Amino acid sequence: MNDLGECLQMVPIFSDLPIEVIDQIVQTGNKKTYTKDSVILVEEEIGTALFVIIKGKVKVSRSSNDGREVILSILTDSDFFGEMSILDGLNRSATVVALEDSELFIIQRKEFLDLLNKHPEITIALLSELTRRLRNADMKIKALSLKDAEGKVATVILQLADDIGKIKQGVVEIEKLPLQQDLANMAGTSRETISRTLHAFARKGLVEMDGSKLRILDYEKFSETFA
Ligand code: CMP
Repeated sequence: MNDLGECLQMVPIFSDLPIEVIDQIVQTGNKKTYTKDSVILVEEEIGTALFVIIKGKVKVSRSSNDGREVILSILTDSDFFGEMSILDGLNRSATVVALEDSELFIIQRKEFLDLLNKHPEITIALLSELTRRLRNADMKIKALSLKDAEGKVATVILQLADDIGKIKQGVVEIEKLPLQQDLANMAGTSRETISRTLHAFARKGLVEMDGSKLRILDYEKFSETFA
């Protein structure tokens, strides 16, 4: 198995497959590099492929007619995107942009659907990931409709901890926090509110900030407080 095969084996939807099948998947797709800020998918265009992130980071967002953006998710190594259009045949549900130089593995629709038909374990793992995304979306709907500014910002921090954070002895570290404007677009609030709230969290000893790093000092307590 080559390097690409090893990377694909880390992707949760492929991790239960035997090496021969991983080798077949390597043959069915192709690798492509997208530089920082390049647009990978555009909301409403026709979807013809599934993308797996070998290395990098992308943001999934939707925009209003007046140009405002809401960020739905940030995805990183071993995540995938583009499955929704492949599965329901409708247009792309969101725009996906590279937040850093990103190496992607692209599988065309027909090949991906063939894989799902031949390997039900991929379908089950795919359902599990889609369920996790629905839970995150539910959490966000609750935050946007019921919570105050602190609750909205905390929900975004918890989502990032889940997506890109690393846990060590109860402390979760998010190594590269998105820009404050991006955090605002995730929380449905303003950049000023993000800045004010993060400083309030730091003063209360809930988080520690160090450049673009953010640590949630007691993850369990933080998630219980803002659940
Ligand atoms: P698709 O609609 O084909 O193209 C845009 C992709 O963004 C979509 O498939 C999903 O892979 C991804 N996406 C859309 N909404 C979300 C979300 N709420 N969380 C994570 N990923 C999403």
